[in-house]
Amino acid sequence: MIILALETSCDETSAAVIDASKDKVEILSNVVSSSLPLHSKTGGIIPEIAAREQVKFIIPVIEKAIEECKLKIENLDSIAVTYGPGLIGSLIVGVETARTLSLVWKKPIVPVNHLIGHIYANFIGDPNIEFPAIALIVSGGHTDLLLIKNHGKIKWLGGTRDDAAGEAFDKIGRLLNLPYPAGPTIETLAKKGSPKAFDFPRPMIGSGDFDFSFSGLKAAVAREVKGQDLSGEFVQNICASTQEAITDILIRKTLLAAKKDEVKSVLLGGGVAANQKLRDEFKSSIANGKLSIKFFAPPKNLCTDNAAMIAAAAFYNYKPIEWKKVTASPELYFD
Ligand code: KG4
Ligand code: ZN
Repeated sequence: MIILALETSCDETSAAVIDASKDKVEILSNVVSSSLPLHSKTGGIIPEIAAREQVKFIIPVIEKAIEECKLKIENLDSIAVTYGPGLIGSLIVGVETARTLSLVWKKPIVPVNHLIGHIYANFIGDPNIEFPAIALIVSGGHTDLLLIKNHGKIKWLGGTRDDAAGEAFDKIGRLLNLPYPAGPTIETLAKKGSPKAFDFPRPMIGSGDFDFSFSGLKAAVAREVKGQDLSGEFVQNICASTQEAITDILIRKTLLAAKKDEVKSVLLGGGVAANQKLRDEFKSSIANGKLSIKFFAPPKNLCTDNAAMIAAAAFYNYKPIEWKKVTASPELYFD
């Protein structure tokens, strides 16, 4: 099956073509255009600007994805599109484009939940993932733990009560005058700092449930940096200690869920999944705990928003609906 997918939930405009005809997902093209540089200046995403950039880029990005995959429109079997959650103005651009193409090209359309898309970045290629699995979605807007019994059989276990993990990185970055989004910069600065320099709180780490909270960590960092010279070793130590606290919380809760449900795999997804320290610590915690669990994280370029993950989610959960019924759903969560 050949699928063209569109992803426009936030500040990335992306189109991808995948070939899933050999029972595995192969990327033929995956074009991503980002309006992030426009938002870096303002320290956060301005929805109105993100939506306007989506309108500008959607057609050129689709054209490029089709040109790069070297197939013709008639070779496409269906169209997948992110319909939520996300920014309404951005989502509408992808959804309306997909509806129009579905009608004009006479192709079935599969709406995809963006968060499920992040999980399916793990299914690109031939990863041999075994169920049941626990998935941890860690992005700029979400932190969720899910039990996946099989494709389409997903149970939400818990999520953040305040800030998402990526949001914590970004807000702490702002306290340190780092550019938005701060996650990658904090990771780089942390390499030269000591993770033990500051003993930051790990809110809810021992709560026994699968919920998260990161606002207390941000408040503790704010108290520590107030009135300090934000340079050199001090900032590196804050970054290393912050990353250590966030990593500790995410791993403890995920492995608690993995042991409780006796799963075979742990899957990471979302922008924060690109963090190497988080990936390494997951692997060593699983090895040290002698757990027979396989750990999966997508290639780093597929952790942040892209349309290939949306196409993969559509293939493994193939439920086309009439184009008229596909509508943008900014508040979409899990069923
Ligand atoms: O999934 P994503 O691209 O967009 C959303 O759907 O939110 O995630 C973006 C988030 C930002 O908060 C960014 O700071 C964080 O992912 N991020 C990272 C890293 N790369 C991106 N956080 C920590 N370490 C990284 N290397
Ligand atoms: Zn995302």
